Amino acid sequence: MERLRLGFIGAGFIAKFHAIALKQVRGVDLVGVVSPNRAAALAEYARKNGLGDCKAYKTVAELCMNCNVVCIFAPNHLRGELMREIVDAVRAGARLKGLVCEKPLGRTVREAQELVDMAKLANLPTSFFENQLHMKSVKRMLDQLAPQQRTMGPMTLVRAAEEHGGPHEPWFWDPVRQGGGVLSDMGCHSIAAAWHLLTPLGKPLTFMEPIAVQAETALLKWGQRKWREDLMKRMGVDYSVSPAEDFATGMITFRNPETKQIVKAQFTVSWMYEKQGMRLFMDGMGPGYAFEIDTLRTPASIFIGDAAAAAAADAEIALEKSTATRGLLPVEPNEADLYGYVDEIEDMRDAFLNGRPAMMDWSYGVEITKLCQAAYMSAEMGRTINLTDPLIQRELVTYKSAIADGRGREVLPIVD
Ligand SMILES: NC(=O)c1ccc[n+]([C@@H]2O[C@H](COP(=O)([O-])OP(=O)(O)OC[C@H]3O[C@@H](n4cnc5c(N)ncnc54)[C@H](O)[C@@H]3O)[C@@H](O)[C@H]2O)c1
Repeated sequence: MERLRLGFIGAGFIAKFHAIALKQVRGVDLVGVVSPNRAAALAEYARKNGLGDCKAYKTVAELCMNCNVVCIFAPNHLRGELMREIVDAVRAGARLKGLVCEKPLGRTVREAQELVDMAKLANLPTSFFENQLHMKSVKRMLDQLAPQQRTMGPMTLVRAAEEHGGPHEPWFWDPVRQGGGVLSDMGCHSIAAAWHLLTPLGKPLTFMEPIAVQAETALLKWGQRKWREDLMKRMGVDYSVSPAEDFATGMITFRNPETKQIVKAQFTVSWMYEKQGMRLFMDGMGPGYAFEIDTLRTPASIFIGDAAAAAAADAEIALEKSTATRGLLPVEPNEADLYGYVDEIEDMRDAFLNGRPAMMDWSYGVEITKLCQAAYMSAEMGRTINLTDPLIQRELVTYKSAIADGRGREVLPIVD
């Protein structure tokens, strides 16, 4: 059987997570990594774990010549220049089967669309990595509720949240490089998950028409002097000059184009979650049935008393973005699988090897970017954004939020 030979651009947090997930996927090798740091270490991890004869390459061009699927796992602001290098490599003879990009596809709708256009130029199929749609808990729950959905009708309300105590690298906190704050970083997940869950069975992912977005952004914790100073010290970003939101919430209204039924997605994301570690939460209601998913309800837990706390120095072994080293702590035995990384790689493998579309391609990533940007627009203007208005649709194409523009102080009050 033909195997996919992956080349990673980036060797940070998500690249390592995908390498861990690859241990659970057949028919895919990790053969190359390009990154200014940690490339050699990730390549060594891949070799040691039987993921493939992985090498650290110096350039994207070299990587493209030695793999058949390129995965963009680098910081958000580099998407455009990396894609240009990939397109050049294809023009120079690199034989690729497809391209992968992590969420968010772009910091703005324009950037996301440019990525789609460049992939078309290279004539390559794409896979947009939005792991939450691939979560086994989501898939099994939908399987279980299929008879209810068929007889009673689809869900009408979904609430989706992703929350943790804040990202691990400085560039995430920098609204200019990242594209905003937690709404840009994690709102894309919760919006995509909720849209999917509200979609009637068997219909395409974009079947439900988004007609209105109403959202708020706020800086609740990291704008306070004590926490600003902490951010400055640890991450080198100054939130008194260029802040980003650490909390966002909103409502997206969708309309079923066939039945005209109105349904709602409520999303909440935060970087100020003061519990044990990251939590993905989703719940939903249809007529006569409901579901709930909470990733902090783990199958295992540990207790560490004060006297033994030093022994648990690396708490993140147990749970992503873990914030505590003592007390009653959740232990998630297989996070790469829990969050959907294993299934998203399998979907991409089957798509690229069999010439069928991936569950999500980059055009879908553009639609998610559009909803995130509409949420920023709503928060900035203090009103509901009507997505059926052609003028709004045109504005969204060129829109960049004040926060992403480094002008966060105009919308996020800071107490000096
Ligand atoms: N699906 C998820 O849940 C999830 C989780 C985390 C991150 N992400 C996404 O993955 C992407 C990477 O995030 P991360 O957490 O791994 O960040 P990170 O900072 O931990 O890692 C980024 C990596 O890219 C490398 N890099 C920087 N410049 C580069 C360049 N010019 N060429 C090649 N590599 C370069 C860095 O050295 C680093 O190894 C982001 O777009 C982020 O939104 C997704």
